[in-house]
Amino acid sequence: MSKQHESVFGREVFENLNLERDSLIVDGTLGDGGHTELLLKNTTNVRVLGIDRDMRAIERAEKRLASFRSRITLVHGNFSDIKTILKKANLMNVDGLILDLGVSSPQLDSPNRGFSFMRNGPLDMRMDSSQKITAADLLVELSDEELVSIIKEYGEERFSKRIVRAIRQAQTKSSIKTTVQLSNIVSTAVHSPGKYKIHPATRTFQALRIAVNGELEHIKKALVDSVDMLQESARIIVISFHSLEDRIVKNFFKNEEKDCVCPPKFPICSCGKKQRLKIITRKPIIPTAEELTRNSRSSSAKLRVGERVYV
Ligand SMILES: C[S@@+](CC[C@H](N)C(=O)[O-])C[C@H]1O[C@@H](n2cnc3c(N)ncnc32)[C@H](O)[C@@H]1O
Repeated sequence: MSKQHESVFGREVFENLNLERDSLIVDGTLGDGGHTELLLKNTTNVRVLGIDRDMRAIERAEKRLASFRSRITLVHGNFSDIKTILKKANLMNVDGLILDLGVSSPQLDSPNRGFSFMRNGPLDMRMDSSQKITAADLLVELSDEELVSIIKEYGEERFSKRIVRAIRQAQTKSSIKTTVQLSNIVSTAVHSPGKYKIHPATRTFQALRIAVNGELEHIKKALVDSVDMLQESARIIVISFHSLEDRIVKNFFKNEEKDCVCPPKFPICSCGKKQRLKIITRKPIIPTAEELTRNSRSSSAKLRVGERVYV
């Protein structure tokens, strides 16, 4: 079995959840079950609905959490289907939601999942292996313009055109099927000694992963739908790992904190919008020096907390 995922912001998640007796918490990104285990170990009456789109994560977490069986419901599914999942599980009145975005260590560390340019394996990147399209498929099926735009926007990569040109040139000789093949093509294309602080393929791999899994769309839908499901004072906690994710969360919280969003010149409100969240973290929580030393994965992590209000 691969190394266990080291949870980021364990203490901060626990302290910010406002836990009470009989709380129902949704862990939308169960992963290795680290956050859920922490909640269950430190409480007696809290119940957790754990969701992950990766069946292997569900299986691993099931083993880890076996001693808490009576207080957990684990579901293989997408957190953007939170409403349907809760309904099917006959659960309502959610008291807290955790979204710890991105990939887990077991996903990154398994060469056959194809997430890492450091490990040779099939260019896959699907979190949910029952999904059809892999990263290798995207390289074949997308037009040059679509590929450039994905690498530019989701990878925030300024050499996107150069990278796509190199990909197309390589494809005239053979198809790109492995992580190391792609990593070498990208590294050669953007070769600019000393300019890259990170591995030159980092941004392209991030972009393809986001595209394969439709990550940003799922986050947007999950945020909107989950707020509908939260009780008064319930907290929503989101941990993000790059600026695209964090921007979505920050803007969503800001918008949900507003009442009316009519143009200022309107004499009376016609939008009828009501505040649904209070922002608890004006600035995101960032890792402590101790966490950074213990867990290098936390270096780009940001945690934001919102609280459900009914006005
Ligand atoms: C960073 S890990 C979570 C680690 C977990 N909090 C722990 O402490 O062990 C992120 C997990 O979220 C899952 N995931 C990502 N996007 C998802 C989505 N849209 N729906 C459900 N699960 C998702 C991934 O498969 C991965 O297992």
